[in-house]
Amino acid sequence: MNNDAVRLRSVTRRHGSGGTSVTALDQVSLAFPRGTFTAVMGPSGSGKSTLLRCAAGLDRPTSGSVTLGDTELTGLNETELTLLRRARVGFVFQAFNLLPALTAEQNVALPLRLAGRRPKKARVREVLEEVGLADRARHRPTELSGGQQQRVALARALITRPEVLFGDEPTGALDSRTGRAVLALLRGMVDRDGRTVVMVTHDPVAASCADRVVFLVDGRAGGELIGAPAGDIAARMTGLEAAPC
Ligand SMILES: Nc1ncnc2c1ncn2[C@@H]1O[C@H](COP(=O)(O)OP(=O)(O)OP(=O)(O)O)[C@@H](O)[C@H]1O
Ligand SMILES: [Mg+2]
Repeated sequence: MNNDAVRLRSVTRRHGSGGTSVTALDQVSLAFPRGTFTAVMGPSGSGKSTLLRCAAGLDRPTSGSVTLGDTELTGLNETELTLLRRARVGFVFQAFNLLPALTAEQNVALPLRLAGRRPKKARVREVLEEVGLADRARHRPTELSGGQQQRVALARALITRPEVLFGDEPTGALDSRTGRAVLALLRGMVDRDGRTVVMVTHDPVAASCADRVVFLVDGRAGGELIGAPAGDIAARMTGLEAAPC
């Protein structure tokens, strides 16, 4: 078994063609080892979301390859890719993307229903407990706080026991205290359960919860920091961002 949960080899993603084309990712090679927590940082437009989408099989590279475990994603057709995403990858976004008409437990069970599987009540309970929301199972999103909604989204991403959990600014819409609770959950998933987490963030404090921070600059890999405190991460980010005046 491959030690990397995900590996990108020389991944380029170009949008459009000719004079107006944009190179969102430019020959990026990165690996995310199993059981680790990686933060992805970089200025706005540097390709972070594109990197995550390519790594999760939500988008296809223009060239290069992406492997999830031992599966080469670039060789899969649309149906195979959809099935792989449902079964093996979890994704949470800044906007929680919960269905407003469904209760927390129905939202959590949705990925299994979409996969044509009958969700077991005990399993739904288990993941809601994991995110500390067992007592909110029957609530709808509008009856939950932002932090609680994001925890429902996390439970929904975890129900299929994905090999990798991707988060695109999962704490971006939360106040710092609520954001910290979500970060503690992510950290615990890695430490206790050996899960693999890859998270885009703009926040150096959030990034300092990760084992490693990888930087993107203009679509290219821009180095990394391992086990760095928030101050060091902030200093590196300041160096990457253009001065505002
Ligand atoms: N569908 C698209 N069509 C054209 N250009 C795109 C598309 N998606 C992304 N881009 C461009 O690719 C580049 C990288 O975008 P991406 O969303 O990955 O950046 P990001 O680092 O996530 O930025 P942010 O921090 O603002 O979320 C940007 O220049 C963006 O305009
Ligand atoms: Mg983005």
